[in-house]
Amino acid sequence: MTEESLANAKINISLDIVSKMANGYHNIRTIMQTVSLSDRITIRSDPGEGVSAEADLPFLPNDERNIAVKAAMAFFKHTGISGSRISISIKKGIPVCAGLGGGSADGACVLRMLDKMFGTGLGSETLETIGGTIGSDVPFCVSGGTSLAEGRGEILTTLRPIPQSHIVICKPPFSFSTPQLFSRVRCEKIRARPDTEGIIAALDQGDIIGIARRMYNVFEDVIPHGTRDISEIKNSLLDSGALGAVMTGSGPAVLGLFDNATKAQNAYELLKQGYKECYFAETTGRIA
Ligand code: C5P
Repeated sequence: MTEESLANAKINISLDIVSKMANGYHNIRTIMQTVSLSDRITIRSDPGEGVSAEADLPFLPNDERNIAVKAAMAFFKHTGISGSRISISIKKGIPVCAGLGGGSADGACVLRMLDKMFGTGLGSETLETIGGTIGSDVPFCVSGGTSLAEGRGEILTTLRPIPQSHIVICKPPFSFSTPQLFSRVRCEKIRARPDTEGIIAALDQGDIIGIARRMYNVFEDVIPHGTRDISEIKNSLLDSGALGAVMTGSGPAVLGLFDNATKAQNAYELLKQGYKECYFAETTGRIA
């Protein structure tokens, strides 16, 4: 039995860090959105035991360090199903270490696919719970769409879908470590925070400009290097007509939100002249 499916990237429209928990994780408040930029996941099931993965990027691990493998193992642990050997093939379209949740999207996609392939009918809520044991962004990626994520990222509130928008993404040629960025944040010293409630109200009204002008990510104020690139990309997007621009997640990719396809295309072409990793995407809706 072989199945194929797409794993969509996520962007953070806003990201706030509220407090540090006793277990070292942080309480966050982030509005997340799935976009059409995706990885292609193929799962083959044969009689036997074990889970393996292969990706078209040689530096990605094939074993339990790969979140797709972790997801499959967590699925079998939860369901108690045995007697199947699972081979996962990952064709990467989402840049890695970018803040776009590529690994989390793959993990969530594997959970959805196995639930379907094995007819377990767990549904999104249970898959989100399993996903939470694998990574903080996995629960959101199970159904995607537009959501407020709180707690470690696993407490999800579905929001009114964002009006269909064009997203231009540009990743400068470096990466930040997520734990390192979290460790640089002093919650009591954060001077500017996103207006999360304002974004939710703007979403309710379908007010794309109200959403875009409130986009903000507190991580932008603690990045250890690359400030010039991040600012340059944001300015380029805004000069090309983006309604708003922000770094996504723990970066370093920056996104611009557009209501006009031609302006988005032009922004993409312009950024492409200076940066190798540029992408053109659309916002996507929730998976039922
Ligand atoms: O859950 P995940 O493996 O994606 O998190 C990676 C790292 O990011 C964690 O080990 C932790 O250091 C940090 N993190 C955090 N608070 C969150 C999510 C992640 O401190 N809400």
